[in-house]
Amino acid sequence: MGANPAPRSAPAAVIALGVFFASGAVVSAASFVALLTPGGFLERLWRLNPRAHQQFQAMGATALVLMGIVCILCAATTAGLWLGRRWGYLLGITLLATSLLGDLANALLGLDRRAWVGVPIAAALLALLATRRARVFFQAPVRPDRTLSAIEARAYYDRFGAKQDSQGFYEDPALDDLIAHAGFETAQRLFEFGCGTGKLAQRLLSGHLPDSATYLGCDVSPTMVEFATRRLAPYRERARALQSDGAARLPLADHSVDRVVSSYVLDLLSEPDVAQFFAEAHRVLETGGRLCLVSLTEGVNPPSRIVAGLWMRVFRWHPAWVGGCRPIRLERCVDAARWRTEYRAVKTAFGVPSEVLVLAAVP
Ligand SMILES: C[S@@+](CC[C@H](N)C(=O)[O-])C[C@H]1O[C@@H](n2cnc3c(N)ncnc32)[C@H](O)[C@@H]1O
Repeated sequence: MGANPAPRSAPAAVIALGVFFASGAVVSAASFVALLTPGGFLERLWRLNPRAHQQFQAMGATALVLMGIVCILCAATTAGLWLGRRWGYLLGITLLATSLLGDLANALLGLDRRAWVGVPIAAALLALLATRRARVFFQAPVRPDRTLSAIEARAYYDRFGAKQDSQGFYEDPALDDLIAHAGFETAQRLFEFGCGTGKLAQRLLSGHLPDSATYLGCDVSPTMVEFATRRLAPYRERARALQSDGAARLPLADHSVDRVVSSYVLDLLSEPDVAQFFAEAHRVLETGGRLCLVSLTEGVNPPSRIVAGLWMRVFRWHPAWVGGCRPIRLERCVDAARWRTEYRAVKTAFGVPSEVLVLAAVP
C-alpha cells in the first residue's frame, strides 16, 4: 500500500531542510562530475576545498561511488520531505544521525578537529525534524485493522484444529468467570457463535445447563465443526454443531433463543461484522435473553498493557501469527438502548487480558 500524501502544507522547517538536502545533492553531484572528469570544467571547484580533493584522490574509485550514493540519498530525501512522505522523513533522520555520529567520532578520536563544526549543525537539523509539527506532518496514515476474511479464518482454524484447546491457559479463567455470571442454569435454548472444538459447549452441557436445554453451535471451520460434533455426541439428541459461511448472520428465527454465547471470536471480526453480530444477537434473543461474550481486550495493568500492546503490534504486522485475533473493547460496541449490562469484568491470565461481558436484551 503506498503512502498517502500529507494533507497539509509542509512546515517552514521541512521546506528549509529540503533546501539543505537539495544543496547536498548539488554539491555531491558536482563533486561526482569533477572526480569523473579530472582537469575538466569543474576542476576549479577543488580550490574551495583542496583537502577534500586530496582525500578523494587517495580513495580512488571509492570516492566516485560514495559521491554518487550521497547525491542519490540527498536528492531522494529532498523529494521525500517536500512531498510529505514518511519515508523521506525517516531517510532524513537516518542521514542526519549518521552524519552526527560520524562527525562526533572524527572529532572525539582527533581525526579531524573541524568535524566539531558539523556536530551542532546536524544536531540542530535533527531537532527540527523532531518538532511536534514535523512529526505530525509525517505521521503514517492510520489504516483500519486488517482482519482475516472468512476464507482465511476458515483455512487458519482448519489447520489449527485441536491446538485451539491449548489456549486454555489464558482463556479458562475468563470462561470460568462467564459461567459464574451468565445464569446458564436457567437457560433453555443456547446458541454459540464460533464454537471451535466444542470445549465450552461440552462443559456447559455436562455441568451447567438443565437437562432439557438445547444447544446449537456454528463455526466457519469444517474441522472445528467435526471436533465439536464428536464432543457433543453424548448429547446428540439436543446438541449439534453446523458449519457457517462466516457471515455474522445467525441462522435462527427472531426471539428464538435465551442465550447467545461467543468466546474469543468477536476479536477476529471486522468492526462492521461485530456491529452486525450485535444486531443479529438482539434479533434472535427473546426479551431478557442474555448475550454472553468473552474476548481478548486492552490491558488493565502494566503487564497486561505490555502484552496487549505487543499482541496488537504482531496482529498489525501479520494477523495470522495471532490467529487473526486482536485486543478489542466489547463494551464500546454496546448500544445502551438495546442492551442492559448485567456483568462486565476484565480477567488477566499470564498477562493476557480478556473481557467478560453479560448483556440482557431489552425490547
Ligand atoms: C479463537 S477460536 C475460539 C474457539 C472457541 N470459541 C473457544 O473459545 O475455544 C475462534 C473460532 O472462531 C471461528 N471463526 C472465526 N471466524 C468466524 C466466523 N466469521 N464465523 C464463525 N466462526 C468463526 C474459528 O473457526 C474458530 O473456531
